[in-house]
Amino acid sequence: MGPVAEIAVIGGSGLYALLDKAVEHTVETPYGAPSDPITIAELGGRTVAFLPRHGRDHRHPPHLIPYRANLWALRSIGVRQILAPCAVGGLRPEFGPGAFVVPDQLIDRTSGRVQTYYDQGAVHVSFADPYCPTGRSTLLAAAGQRGIEATDGGTVVVVEGPRFSTRAESRWYTAIGGTVVNMTGHPEAVLARELALCYSSIALVTDLDAGVEGEHGVTQEEVFRVFGENSVRLRELLLDAITALPLTRDCPCGHALDGITLPFKLP
Ligand code: ADE
Repeated sequence: MGPVAEIAVIGGSGLYALLDKAVEHTVETPYGAPSDPITIAELGGRTVAFLPRHGRDHRHPPHLIPYRANLWALRSIGVRQILAPCAVGGLRPEFGPGAFVVPDQLIDRTSGRVQTYYDQGAVHVSFADPYCPTGRSTLLAAAGQRGIEATDGGTVVVVEGPRFSTRAESRWYTAIGGTVVNMTGHPEAVLARELALCYSSIALVTDLDAGVEGEHGVTQEEVFRVFGENSVRLRELLLDAITALPLTRDCPCGHALDGITLPFKLP
């Protein structure tokens, strides 16, 4: 039998390892290899997988991450609940470096990324609420118990990158309702939904984006430094959230494909 896990964390910039005493597994998919081998460990009675979205050496830039392989690989080993931390820029002055947001909406501004598994047949998943409500409330409760202030709700604008945004673009993202901006939240979220997985995200603000930042614009150095400064807090919060996730799913995510005829069998 191959590797098995129930819950996964997909780690973002600056979070390349999560679990102690983890065993590494190479998983193949019809969409090629995921970003990295998947590491699996037991935690509080749950079997947990970790996958660094960019690869542990950060070799995959945001626009070239093998998103389809990543989500497929996780589902194929049994994962049904995913927590997805990510680094984001703040689009409003009140969301400055070090702030945490548990988003409830996203706006897709990516282009040219494959964002579906279903190139045949009529498979149209509902995406009105892109994040799992149970995952969100679990992350918020875990933050609260650790005394970490995390904002409940917010809209992530996902840009194509890999460049940062111009000041005009950034101001526009704020004007259309964005709270934070990043480069990886999509198509990860919709691919999870297309596989009927629970997916929720916790966004760590590493910088103020160009529209609200006065001087030099966003720099990569700042993003990595602030993420590093907060990575211990983030790791603790994630480990708490993993053990607090309910064993059975009673959210809508698992029913995303009910009544739909799929062109192939899911793993
Ligand atoms: N990730 C972290 N900060 C970002 C920003 N300002 N824009 C896009 N992606 C980001």
